[in-house]
Amino acid sequence: MTASLEKTARRRDTSRTPAFFYPSAREGMRDLLVNSAAALERGVLLPGFIGWSAIEGSGVFDPVREAEVQYGFYGLNPDLSADLDEVEAQLKSGGYGVLVIIHYYGRSEPRLQELRRMADEHDVILVEDLAHGFFTSQSESSAGRFGDVLLFSLHKQFPLAEGGMALYRNAGLIEKQVGTRPDLAVEVLSYDWREIANARRRNFSVLTSHLLELPECGNEFTLLWPELSEGDVPQTLPIWVHGEIRDSIYRRMNAEGFGMVSLYHTLIQELGGAFPRLEKLSRHIINFPVHQDVVTNEIPSLVDSFRASLHQMTEKQIGDS
Ligand SMILES: Cc1ncc(COP(=O)(O)O)c(C=O)c1O
Repeated sequence: MTASLEKTARRRDTSRTPAFFYPSAREGMRDLLVNSAAALERGVLLPGFIGWSAIEGSGVFDPVREAEVQYGFYGLNPDLSADLDEVEAQLKSGGYGVLVIIHYYGRSEPRLQELRRMADEHDVILVEDLAHGFFTSQSESSAGRFGDVLLFSLHKQFPLAEGGMALYRNAGLIEKQVGTRPDLAVEVLSYDWREIANARRRNFSVLTSHLLELPECGNEFTLLWPELSEGDVPQTLPIWVHGEIRDSIYRRMNAEGFGMVSLYHTLIQELGGAFPRLEKLSRHIINFPVHQDVVTNEIPSLVDSFRASLHQMTEKQIGDS
């Protein structure tokens, strides 16, 4: 019997996911839409929770608009996972050639395998938006395992002024795409990913237990993501603030030096109020930082600042009414 088992790996295609680096994730999406004929054949189907800001525009939607391709939206469940019935119904229309799913805040979409099956059934390219999920995709989660193309916003996860990456699990989609920032590969490889993932998970867990202990929890605010699945690495910790005081909390806490964000505080106008619950979420969501620079013993003062803001703003609201 003769075998051809080599001493070292020689096949260039085994487990290869060609990488393209850009200044931002949106550049990667634009490159896909503009330079891969298959991606432009039909429309792009996106989730119904997509933000816009005057400074940043819309990282998800700008490339779709710029490519002048048809688009549509599907609804999400309260935990921001995809509503599979809606996705299926939309794909059945035959109008879409690209399905985008977003792993919001680094939380892996729980039913990715079924979405993959739907994409195959309707001959659609599956794009996993991992703008918030680089570290989740490097863990044991399913994020990043099923998409044809994976998009990453590196500047949102690493201390880089700019950076985006597209990985092609389906190399057949590569036509005229050109990465413009290959130098960023050095930056990304110069960090200890596991250590960063552990720090983010630890900060998230500590912050969650502090927030759950507050008497206001469940009355004045609700955790969007009360449990961290084993493979998920959070980008931030999102909560729903019940009163109409989110923006005041945001301003007060940032003035005190606590880097809160609101992802997303305003939805793109193209959504046109189609998803009232998601619209409402955008007015109430606020995200705590849990990134690798947060020192765990700073978390109690972060929570104190939140609680004080919550009280001050609630009292002011009562006083104003
Ligand atoms: C879910 C999501 N996808 C993609 C992007 C685009 O990221 P970038 O700023 O790197 O283009 C953003 C941010 O704008 C985002 O929040």
